[in-house]
Amino acid sequence: MIVLGLETSCDETAAALVAAEDGGRPHVLAERVYSQIAEHAPYAGVVPEIAARAHVAHLDRLVAEVMAEAGLDYGDVDAVAATAGPGLIGGLLVGLTTAKAIALAAERPLVAVNHLEAHALSPRLEAELDFPYLLLLVSGGHCQLLTVHDVGRFTRLGSTIDDAVGEAFDKVAKMLGLGYPGGPAVERAAAAGDPGAIPLPRPLKGRAGCDFSFSGLKNAVRLAVAAAEPPLPVADICASFQAAVTEVMVDRVGHAMSLHEERTAGRGRALVVAGGVAANQALRQALASLAAGRDWRLVVPPLRLCTDNGVMVALAGIERLRRGLTDPLDVAPRPRWPL
Ligand code: KG4
Ligand code: ZN
Repeated sequence: MIVLGLETSCDETAAALVAAEDGGRPHVLAERVYSQIAEHAPYAGVVPEIAARAHVAHLDRLVAEVMAEAGLDYGDVDAVAATAGPGLIGGLLVGLTTAKAIALAAERPLVAVNHLEAHALSPRLEAELDFPYLLLLVSGGHCQLLTVHDVGRFTRLGSTIDDAVGEAFDKVAKMLGLGYPGGPAVERAAAAGDPGAIPLPRPLKGRAGCDFSFSGLKNAVRLAVAAAEPPLPVADICASFQAAVTEVMVDRVGHAMSLHEERTAGRGRALVVAGGVAANQALRQALASLAAGRDWRLVVPPLRLCTDNGVMVALAGIERLRRGLTDPLDVAPRPRWPL
């Protein structure tokens, strides 16, 4: 089984071909990701109109490249999968319409993929990982904790009540003039700072449940920036912010582990971290010691699978196709589509 996967929900334009034998482990035949970061950087955030135009400009070329690299014609593909949501409507339209055109012309089924489900399933490409497992999805647009029971079966344990965690990193970076995307820049600056230097709140820490909140923390950073004597202690602010985020994460994930254990009767003690913020080493280390202390397994997929990519969409397409789940050609994009 060979599936072509297209990803256009945010600021990455991506295409990939993934193959799987009956019941076997899928493997990547070819993949391309075009990052639009440079086009959005002057605005310190993703501009939807620019994103949609960039998808139009690059997607066809990327699809042609993966087909050529794998030496395949559209007739060799068993299904075409595209992210149908959640995401920016302009980008979703570009990817989904392209997928529909290929599916129609090649007379192949279409699979409309939920971007969050693609993130949730992608770690299964390279790790031996059975259902159920606990997923921490942390990116620029998402911040949630889910029990993944099976393809299409999730229990949401908690999510952010305001900003996503990657968004908070990006906004702090913007306040400090560190550029976009902010996460990697904040992490780099934090390495030279003192995490105890600036007192910052730990929103929702110690409270019941597994929800997150970052807008109060972000505002506290804003006040600290305003109050600081020049020169601005950038490294200390970054280190203190990152420490606050990490502490909150460990607290929230700890609660989710307990809930997950209750609901799955102790099966599936694996914590999977996906999304761009999974690149953060301080967060990874804190989650690794949390997991070790509770006798859980921690699975962090390689970075190219953590951030937005076409492989995860093709992979979700394979899992759905195996279960006979395809979509009609008039399926509509869904900018809002919670799991
Ligand atoms: O998954 P992703 O590539 O795109 C979506 O948002 O869907 O995630 C990008 C987010 C950005 O907010 C970026 O600042 C954050 O992930 N990020 C990081 C790091 N690398 C990327 N946040 C903290 N530390 C990092 N090292
Ligand atoms: Zn994503």
